[in-house]
Amino acid sequence: MRYPEETIEEVRTANDIVDVISGYVRLAKKGSSHFGLCPFHNEKSPSFSVSQSKQMYYCFGCGAGGNVITFVMEYENFTFVEAVKHLADRAGIVLPELEYSREEQKKADKKAAILELNKLAANYFYSQLQTKNGARARQYFLDRQLTEKTMKHFGLGYANIYQDDLYQYLKKKGYKDELLHESGLVGYHEKHGMQDKFWNRVMFPIMDVNNHVIGFGGRVMGDGEPKYLNSRETPVFDKSRNLYGLNFARTARESCLLICEGYMDVIAMHQAGFTNAVASLGTAFTQGHAQLIKRYAKEVILVYDSDAAGTKAILRALPILREAGITARVLRMGPHKDPDEFIKNEGAEAFQKRIDEAENSFLFEIQVLEQEYQMNDPESRSRFYKEVAAKLLRFREELERETYLETVAKRYRIEPKQLRSLVTSVSLSLSGETQKIQPKSGVRKKEKPPNGALHPQKLLLTWLVEETQLFEKIKPYIRLEDFTEPFYHTVAEMLYEQWEQKELNPARIISRFQDEEQQRQAASLFNTSIREVTTKEEKEKAISETVYKVKENSIKNRSARLEPTDLTGMQKVLEDKKELQKLRNLHIFLD
Ligand code: UTP
Ligand code: MN
Repeated sequence: MRYPEETIEEVRTANDIVDVISGYVRLAKKGSSHFGLCPFHNEKSPSFSVSQSKQMYYCFGCGAGGNVITFVMEYENFTFVEAVKHLADRAGIVLPELEYSREEQKKADKKAAILELNKLAANYFYSQLQTKNGARARQYFLDRQLTEKTMKHFGLGYANIYQDDLYQYLKKKGYKDELLHESGLVGYHEKHGMQDKFWNRVMFPIMDVNNHVIGFGGRVMGDGEPKYLNSRETPVFDKSRNLYGLNFARTARESCLLICEGYMDVIAMHQAGFTNAVASLGTAFTQGHAQLIKRYAKEVILVYDSDAAGTKAILRALPILREAGITARVLRMGPHKDPDEFIKNEGAEAFQKRIDEAENSFLFEIQVLEQEYQMNDPESRSRFYKEVAAKLLRFREELERETYLETVAKRYRIEPKQLRSLVTSVSLSLSGETQKIQPKSGVRKKEKPPNGALHPQKLLLTWLVEETQLFEKIKPYIRLEDFTEPFYHTVAEMLYEQWEQKELNPARIISRFQDEEQQRQAASLFNTSIREVTTKEEKEKAISETVYKVKENSIKNRSARLEPTDLTGMQKVLEDKKELQKLRNLHIFLD
């Protein structure tokens, strides 16, 4: 399902990017671009640039980038279609009705119906809480020190002792058994027929980021098994892609989210003013969660239970977060069990103090590791240090690694010099490039180091957009196939096509991708930081070098994939290599 490309273009061009972004970010003109503080990461000096001529934005700090549609998607957390609708509204454009396929329509209808059912159920549970029968449930929440305001805010409710009243209520509204069953609110019981899933429990509606009720958790009041009963997965409820409380936490607009385990923990934290808390609800932390978090925060603090299970869950979550590029710290609640109990006993101020003291995830891992060794046994101790050295190798930047090395050395009483030489020897004993120590670079880069082979292709795409005369000039040397990375190739193809039709328009290319991540990637291709060049000669030299490197990589790539029996292919590579020799002295002249 999507709008025709022409419609998307109409909406995009009707919304000038500088105009739109100025509504969110204070911009100042500098040269041909507008600069401001990036709204997608924390920074003190502006690296967020908006180009009126290109109708694109790009942050040199965190790599966020795209056209005006991407911006609205990222800032407002809209889907592509939602962003287009929003911008159309802004420009007073009436959009055509979206066309769904029959299959899509059926699926969308079912989802909408289940969401509607959930909303009815949530309201039903909420109203039950206010009745006489619900007094016990209200008392339960009050005993757990929740205020009326908090109950209302989270839409807490009560499923009463009757085992089919919700079913009867929804049935009366005209819903069919099949849909009721599919919603997970009602189950089929051989002896009793259709039965409510939840009864005699206090109820926690689970909402997605758009405030739709997607499922429920129900807790027994007191002891009983299971303590919490949760909705099963349905077409609208995917546990591995939703976080409890995120609908509120996202509006806190904090750069950091607090991640905990339970319903009551989230609620207690929000009530105490920590409105950036979310929970993964007893399920293990997944990549889906990490991707979701990434849309809202760059950093998280894990506030898992202080028992062994909590520690284990943290150790499992950390690599997933690291992989997703999210910085993590770990907050410990000892001597209390969980955030709810901590806050109840020590109050919000003490909790804030623990937040400020939360340990960096690396140091946390080391702390856990230490417990596996006998530190007063020299042999065990030295095995511990070796393990630490191996973990230190994870930091590729020497500066960062040194900082941790010093901290660890001080904390675990080893000479930094000694630990450093351990790091070197572990590094040498590990084969494979990836683990080797990187040379000192002096500066700490925020961006990932560019992939050596692919970077020239990115550079070339940026140059093409900056200097459109280049298309003609590099034609004799560069063919589309020389863009070896599939995504770059796709983008290059679109760019060349536009050039041939004399309608060069990179911002338009971006909205041909509906996925935010792809839009961001495409934008980065047109915004590679080009080395500061002042004179025309320097520019020409930089471009010529880039062309050479792209060609060189392309040939290398092809010959690596050549079958030994492919004689024609081999011949071709040999010829190319000869050509490449000539390209060594290539100088592309700009007008
Ligand atoms: P906990 O057992 O730590 O409970 O489970 P809790 O959050 O402290 O709950 P209270 O304070 O006793 O009310 C953490 C989370 O794991 C899930 C729930 O999401 C819970 O909030 N869980 C736990 C279940 O789904 N089912 C259970 O039976 C227990
Ligand atoms: Mn608890």
